[in-house]
Amino acid sequence: MDELTEGAPSPQEMEQLLNRALIGAVHLGEMIDNMLDHALAEGAELHLEPLSLGGPGGLVSDVGDLLGVPSLEVRGPSGPIVRGDEHGVRQLLASLLGNAVKYAAPERPLHVHVDIERRASRVVVTVSDNGRGIPEHEHETVFEPFSRAGTAGTVAGTGIGLTLCRLVVERHGGTISCASGPTGVGTTFTFDLPAD
Ligand SMILES: Nc1ncnc2c1ncn2[C@@H]1O[C@H](COP(=O)(O)OP(=O)(O)O)[C@@H](O)[C@H]1O
Ligand SMILES: [Mg+2]
Repeated sequence: MDELTEGAPSPQEMEQLLNRALIGAVHLGEMIDNMLDHALAEGAELHLEPLSLGGPGGLVSDVGDLLGVPSLEVRGPSGPIVRGDEHGVRQLLASLLGNAVKYAAPERPLHVHVDIERRASRVVVTVSDNGRGIPEHEHETVFEPFSRAGTAGTVAGTGIGLTLCRLVVERHGGTISCASGPTGVGTTFTFDLPAD
């Protein structure tokens, strides 16, 4: 911190320093929150119960509304469909929908589609966006702790969200994967949970 050793800082320099400290504190807070969630997700027992994902009262539109996701389209049945841990599934959806918003492409309006489909004893969910996308060689590594894609640019983040998503899905006996969007634009995440 050269600024502190070379005489007294001017009011402007002081303000800059304080701003920098504040931004650092906010990032640190976000990281600590995420790590706590992570630790909880690893340690806590799952409370499995029937959950509705689609429809007006479903978890997808509920979480989408809370996050203010613009133009969110949900396809699939309403009513209880999954047997899952509500806290974990909410975290999972919040992370995926939050990412869709965070990593929107600046040059086009964001569209997010969620598809819910029952397949035998599993429910398969896809979350697709038309955002900035993730390079193919990073489709697997983005799930690793603290890993961020080359396309993240200046968007702030910790790289923990998708690690937590994978943990939640795996604790429900499922898998989660990442691919490019249907027309090569954007990103599609696919995961499965036990059917109710
Ligand atoms: N929907 C998305 N569109 C584009 N890139 C994404 C999307 N979701 C995740 N990513 C990329 O994957 C990385 C890891 O995501 P995540 O674990 O949630 O961490 P964070 O959002 O804190 O950076 C992000 O940094 C970003 O580069
Ligand atoms: Mg994230």
